[in-house]
Amino acid sequence: MKSSQLTFDNKIILAPMVRVGTLPMRLLSLEYGADIVYSEELIDWKFLKSVRRENGVLGTIDYLDPTDGTVIFRTCAKEKQNVVVQLGTSDPDRALKVAKLIENDVSGIDINMGCPKEFSLKGGMGAALMTQKEKAKKILSTLVENVKIPVTCKIRVFENIDDTLTLVKELEATGIKAIAVHGRTKVERPQHPNRNHVIKKIAETLNIPVIANGGSREIENYRDLFKFKDDCGCSSVMVARTAQYNCSIFRKDGMKAMDDVIVQYLKKCVEYDNSPSNTKYCVQNMLKELQETPRGKRFLECQTLEQICNIWNLGDYCRQKQLEYQTKGNFGRREIMP
Ligand code: FNR
Repeated sequence: MKSSQLTFDNKIILAPMVRVGTLPMRLLSLEYGADIVYSEELIDWKFLKSVRRENGVLGTIDYLDPTDGTVIFRTCAKEKQNVVVQLGTSDPDRALKVAKLIENDVSGIDINMGCPKEFSLKGGMGAALMTQKEKAKKILSTLVENVKIPVTCKIRVFENIDDTLTLVKELEATGIKAIAVHGRTKVERPQHPNRNHVIKKIAETLNIPVIANGGSREIENYRDLFKFKDDCGCSSVMVARTAQYNCSIFRKDGMKAMDDVIVQYLKKCVEYDNSPSNTKYCVQNMLKELQETPRGKRFLECQTLEQICNIWNLGDYCRQKQLEYQTKGNFGRREIMP
């Protein structure tokens, strides 16, 4: 049992990203070569009010909002061995209830201790936990003691290196299996340099794997992933923004052109009935300034998955798949709600 558990040494990892890290992006990242994929941050109470459904039409496990059927979290067997769910929480009991709910469907649980957004901080979640150490440790130790899959956490750094080292040592002592470190403080933004030297110091100090994060500005190709992790003295690396723009960064044989990636991404969106609004958001991130081109403008007007697919010549594929799913059973919504 223990030997088949997910481990965090020598891994290339898709970082947790709100709205970006949904099932199609996670599966495509794995196909391209990522070893582990983190879900977007999911808030504990949303999970707690969800209902778990095995979706026979799509072959997925869905956690649905019972009021409107919205998918809160969708997963499937293909990613089961490699997916870590990231939780936003400020409460050990709530975190444990969620963990028990999902522990048979995923391979790890991560606690977000780095999010600097006001919503998280006000709720005592994310980076708020870095200054509420006792609560942070209680959340982690409660999970470690009661859940059979590995528990990790993701933090930022403090301005003061000694404060950071004190924190990570205490977090390590809870029994977590790894710690991801984004080398910026709570108030720093992507334009600030990542404190790779602090990550290195953490990696030298701890015995558990430290996952280097925050390097997207210096990661433009596969080799850069390794340069960044070496610079941080870590055996594992976690990448967010570079993967958000082009998740073929995980390909050993080099990155694919943006349009190739979009085609593969859309196929997964169709296959797993991803919502049109989430699909559109992720493709927008890939297109970036190309949204200003005539094709980009046509794309921005799309309301359905089929319309989006038409632009990348996948309209027939989308219609066929949707028909197949409709004949198998009732599923999903089709339009972006105004
Ligand atoms: C993020 N980040 C983030 N972090 C986290 O712990 N949970 C989350 O849900 C999110 N969501 C999120 C969304 C988007 C669109 C971005 C760009 C970032 C932060 C992310 O995981 C990472 O720590 C930083 O982006 C730094 O890594 P990179 O981008 O330099 O590789």
